[in-house]
Amino acid sequence: MINNEIAEKTYWIGKVDDRKVPFHRLVLEKGTTYNSYLLDTEKPTIIDTVDIMYGMEFVKNLQSIIDLNKIHYVVINHVEPDHAGALPALLNKAQNATIVTTEKGREFLNGMFKLQNRNYLIIKDGDSLDIGGKTLKFFETPYLHTEETMITYCIEDKILYPCDIFSTHIANYELFNDLAKEDITEDFMIYYKLIMSPHRSYVRDMINKIRTLDIDIIAPSHGFILRDNAEKYIDLYDDLSRINPDSQNKKALILFSSMTGNTSKIANSLSQGLTNLGIKSNIFNVKNSDINSIKQAALESDVIFVGSSTKYGDMIGNLEEVLKELIKLDLSNKLGIAFGSFGWSGEAVELINDYIKQSSMTLVDTSYLVKSTGANDIQLPLKVSYYDEETTTDLCINTAMAVGELIINR
Ligand code: FEO
Repeated sequence: MINNEIAEKTYWIGKVDDRKVPFHRLVLEKGTTYNSYLLDTEKPTIIDTVDIMYGMEFVKNLQSIIDLNKIHYVVINHVEPDHAGALPALLNKAQNATIVTTEKGREFLNGMFKLQNRNYLIIKDGDSLDIGGKTLKFFETPYLHTEETMITYCIEDKILYPCDIFSTHIANYELFNDLAKEDITEDFMIYYKLIMSPHRSYVRDMINKIRTLDIDIIAPSHGFILRDNAEKYIDLYDDLSRINPDSQNKKALILFSSMTGNTSKIANSLSQGLTNLGIKSNIFNVKNSDINSIKQAALESDVIFVGSSTKYGDMIGNLEEVLKELIKLDLSNKLGIAFGSFGWSGEAVELINDYIKQSSMTLVDTSYLVKSTGANDIQLPLKVSYYDEETTTDLCINTAMAVGELIINR
């Protein structure tokens, strides 16, 4: 059996990647590891795999330590190809294995690897699984950092397997943090900032879940296994994910022009979402507002929302005159977002979007959000058909909070 035992009958079976690794449009100068684990119980279980490019090597190594026909479960906490990438190669040999993942995980795996004919065990938050001598408990942790993610906890070993969460990008052969040649705290915090910080509210939810667990070891899927002072690393996430008091100084400007009141409602709901994060917002109905006050508020804001109803294929009232003034200002370092209610086409929102593109603001649209956070659940510009009280308020609040997180993290 391999030497990398992290608990009784539990082994690291991952891959150290000491290249300069391309990753999320960065280069990981210190490389990384893809940590995979074998729990060699009565129902042998693998937790996550390795990067897709090392799939064959992973399977070959594993074959030398266990008969792959005996693999009972493969837990996939996260579907990105640096962790699920070796799954097809593994399943090709591990014909009796059941994939354990979330419903969203199954959807993504089937889309990516065409695994529709394989057995799945779909877990929900808090589910447990007896693997014959050990018990796994699962928690859904969406958007840490993609939609399908979950974490796995072994009750008997008190080990948390959180995949990307609590990781560091360091190619290391020492495996455990107490054997590291230097303090890894800075690398750990850089990783948090790069991968987790855009999903701050989901980090808070995750921490609330794991605070109920008795954790001796954190075994993430990149970098060191945290067996020395695991609590310190949970506390770091706890601290880093709290709203910085500086966010109280962040300001938003919400300008709108509304025909029947629906766009006004959007403006108010956006303000509510920002308030949830402690961000102050100034709301101006441009019809009743002095242009100099608007310009001053724009200069003092970190983010500017501009909205209009659509009438005759255009924005309404004097909003366009206001936009012509705004684009003359130096609004660099500010974010701009278009919104509005519409009946059937919503041209006004697109026209506002064009003005923001012409300005010195940074336009926040769906493309910007995807590239900066990886989140794909918010569509911008925010176009709302009329205003449905049941659903639109939450949509606007969530949108404002997603944008608010951008300026908190700037
Ligand atoms: Fe390490 Fe999200 O992959």
